[in-house]
Amino acid sequence: MQNKFYITTPIYYVNAKPHIGHAYTTIAADVLARFQKLQGKEVFFLTGTDEHGLKIQKQAEKEGKDPQQFVDDVSVGFKMLWKDLNIDYTNFIRTTDENHIKAVQKVLQTLKNKGAIYKGTYSGLYCVGCEQFKSENELIDGKCPDHNLVPEKMEEECWLLNLSGVQDKLIEKIESDEFEIAPARYKNEILSFLKNQPLKDVSISRKNVKWGIPLPFEPEQTTYVWIDAFLNYLTGLGWDGDENNLPEKWPVDVQLIGKDILRVHATIWPAILLNLGIEKLPKLLFTHGHILSGGKKMSKTLGNVIGIDEMIEKFGVDGTRYLLLSAGPFGYDIDVTMERMIEKYNADLANGLGNLVSRIIKLSEDAEIKFEKINFNKAIEKKIEKNNSYFLKGIMESVAINLGLEHVWVIIEEDNKFINDTKPWELKRTDEGKFKEVMSKLLSDLNLISEFLAPFMPETAEKIKTALETKKAGILFQRIR
Ligand code: ME8
Ligand code: MG
Repeated sequence: MQNKFYITTPIYYVNAKPHIGHAYTTIAADVLARFQKLQGKEVFFLTGTDEHGLKIQKQAEKEGKDPQQFVDDVSVGFKMLWKDLNIDYTNFIRTTDENHIKAVQKVLQTLKNKGAIYKGTYSGLYCVGCEQFKSENELIDGKCPDHNLVPEKMEEECWLLNLSGVQDKLIEKIESDEFEIAPARYKNEILSFLKNQPLKDVSISRKNVKWGIPLPFEPEQTTYVWIDAFLNYLTGLGWDGDENNLPEKWPVDVQLIGKDILRVHATIWPAILLNLGIEKLPKLLFTHGHILSGGKKMSKTLGNVIGIDEMIEKFGVDGTRYLLLSAGPFGYDIDVTMERMIEKYNADLANGLGNLVSRIIKLSEDAEIKFEKINFNKAIEKKIEKNNSYFLKGIMESVAINLGLEHVWVIIEEDNKFINDTKPWELKRTDEGKFKEVMSKLLSDLNLISEFLAPFMPETAEKIKTALETKKAGILFQRIR
């Protein structure tokens, strides 16, 4: 399929409510999906929840709830948040969905038939937060640095998946960008990891975890949660587990992930596909950084947690989308504080964009002025001087989402300055010809801005379009004091 675009987010653990990090990835994916949709592509945007495993089993126990009831409740919370944030996904997959479970079991049977998995034992240090075995050198002061937890010693009889057997092929596909890992420094990191040691075969089943998908050939064991989870990227398209009959939307065009789960996505996930004989790997694995607050990981103990609900309440939906995506380069860690976000909201949205829209509409209220209306496809190919990367299409194809917004704000800032310099309210009285010329440029730019903003801030883009038609603009962004 030529005209298709398939994009995924990670499926999020339902051991706790969704947070700002989950929102960050999902908003970014939504922007990329809308960007393609507006160009006429047939887009499939998949997100969902990861609902099995020890971490979730333990949390359900702790809250005294039946695990199924527990995951049902939390999963709904994710759906509600995505609705609030105007996330236009195509499918929301849950790993407790019946067809997912069946497909996973089919895959496991196939892997066994192909001799890709074998019975053995595995021992190591297990971090329940990561749901992963950790090697000693990944720990800091004996703890998993991501979860600040001391991993548990574990030794179990289990089934193992062959990773080393597909290692050379994997290296080749990453090197040639057939399976592209971006930004480039992550590609290099993964390549040097893959070239420096043989991959250790990974355990794909758990003997002592009840809350999981039973192995079809040994039901006393459940499927390791990551194996279960990765397959969502195929089952989310309605796949039944037959490796000879892949969905037509396959392969994924863009997989967005945070840097915390890069290693597994660049090793175990493609290794499952290659062991199944699926040669078409995801086209692009794009890794973004983490959101920090005041230079530190957000934590309840530090008291620097910024709630996503709190953000939506304060900044509105489009304000939240804007502030998260413009907080720093996409692909690097970004740092947010409430103080700085309020400042940025006032400067860029209330004063910058909001002010521009209301000034232009007010000035043109009672005048008949012709202006240029270009459509989305033309708009994104238009070069904007001053911006290094020139045109929005190019910027977005390299997944530089924050630069996409900067590109729009170049025009907003220039136009606000242009109004101050040309003083159209004076021209209106003194030079009608010049007034119309100035206003025509401004109205054309406003139309362009509304096209540009459509994928990033869909509601705002619509409001600007309506204002251009009705010559009435309310307050788009109320100043916060
Ligand atoms: O890892 N900053 O789920 P998860 C930015 N279920 N993004 C963040 C973030 C932060 N501080 N914290 C989380 C899992 N994220 C597995 C994935 S996929 C087959 C299975 C985002 O609930 C980011 O996308 O821990 C990160 O990779 C993801 O949430 C991890 O979510
Ligand atoms: Mg996590």
